[in-house]
Amino acid sequence: MQVTVIGSGYVGTTLAACLADLGHDVTNVDIDEEIVAAIESGVAPIHEAGLDELVAEHGGERLRATTDYDVATRANVVFIALPTPTDAEGRIDTSIITAGAEQLGAALAESEERPLVVVKSTVVPGTTENELIPALERGSGSTVGEAFDVAVNPEFLREGTAVSDFLHPDKVVFGAQHARAYETLNELYAPLFERTDTAVVRTGIREAEMIKYANNAFLASKISLINELGNICKEFGVDAYEVADAIGLDDRIGPQFLRSGVGWGGSCFPKDVAALIAAARDAGYDPELLDAVVGVNDRQPERLLSILDDHVDVNGERVAVLGLAFKSGTDDIRSSRAIPTIEGLLERGATVVGYDPVATENMRAEFPDIEYASSAADALSGATAAVVVTDWDEFAALDEEFDAMARPVVVDGRRIVEPRAGIEYEGLTW
Ligand code: UDX
Repeated sequence: MQVTVIGSGYVGTTLAACLADLGHDVTNVDIDEEIVAAIESGVAPIHEAGLDELVAEHGGERLRATTDYDVATRANVVFIALPTPTDAEGRIDTSIITAGAEQLGAALAESEERPLVVVKSTVVPGTTENELIPALERGSGSTVGEAFDVAVNPEFLREGTAVSDFLHPDKVVFGAQHARAYETLNELYAPLFERTDTAVVRTGIREAEMIKYANNAFLASKISLINELGNICKEFGVDAYEVADAIGLDDRIGPQFLRSGVGWGGSCFPKDVAALIAAARDAGYDPELLDAVVGVNDRQPERLLSILDDHVDVNGERVAVLGLAFKSGTDDIRSSRAIPTIEGLLERGATVVGYDPVATENMRAEFPDIEYASSAADALSGATAAVVVTDWDEFAALDEEFDAMARPVVVDGRRIVEPRAGIEYEGLTW
């Protein structure tokens, strides 16, 4: 099929490359000429495992890129994968996606066939019907069902494993109003369905929009709940990880997302939970539980530091922060728990030295004045205490590096360091 993907962020680029790999002719549209040139020459514009190979294989051939929306006139399917940033109150800002839809509509006015416009971006229920369809209609001077059809197909891709998640999904969700749209999406994903046993959810447009939020709100809640239980376990001297492993054996609970610690960050959970809370409140519902989910998450870094306070007064002391990325396997620091952790240490008058295998440069932009070490060993050397924020595997291998500390106090927010004699070790929730 002929596919256009509007937007070359991590979702758009992954989607475009994966659809090309499934055998479709895909053109990725972005305003950034450097990104376009990179894709055209077979170079992935972002870092995602497996993406380099796909873009190298298909870039300039089945995977093309351009800055020109008019390419959409030839498409059977056009994905909108534009950003929906958060405003000050947590609401999604739909100005970029609405402007993109209007521009796309203008291009589609020239389409010979009736293409399917698929909303990939995360938007709160009602956005497609109330904002995006009208924008497409304004641009095209035509109506939905006449010049184009519309569907919603949310993504559930994790950063770092986005390509593999796309090619081996648990489910795909098709939100549409007409059988024709489901059939088009089915044809598009058919090569994937041949390879994998994927659940296909056919639902309405608003339901598809909501499924994405419900998915992320549920997972974020699961972590905040296990964090709350972990905090309670600690009060009773109970091993929170043993408890988590046991409850995870119940099929209704499941073993994943039960690692208690310093909380969730990243580009999705904080933004999507905030947007759902704001949208619910705007609609007249007070989402008390989701407020608490955010509240528990906000509290975990401060709990980590109060445990540190029990061991040592860090005022004037050197403290190593091990891990700056919001999770291991990425250099992304957005809403990383390292940010409030560093803020809290600075408030206490500590000299902070941060270490991360890949995220240092990103954190330097956030905190230009703290020290950064080029290895965990360097960060620990001479430090009075260390706090562990990210679950990088290499922290599990640390051993004699702790002997070079001025005082080996280690407060672990991810249960990754191996406790041993000679380290004053304490975990956040165990
Ligand atoms: C998440 C969703 O998993 C994905 O489906 C969605 O599309 C985008 O948001 P991602 O942000 O890449 O993906 O990270 P994920 O691996 O889900 O982890 C999110 C956060 O939860 C991280 O900060 C991680 O450290 C934390 N986490 C995860 C825990 O604290 N405990 C756990 O048991 C699992």
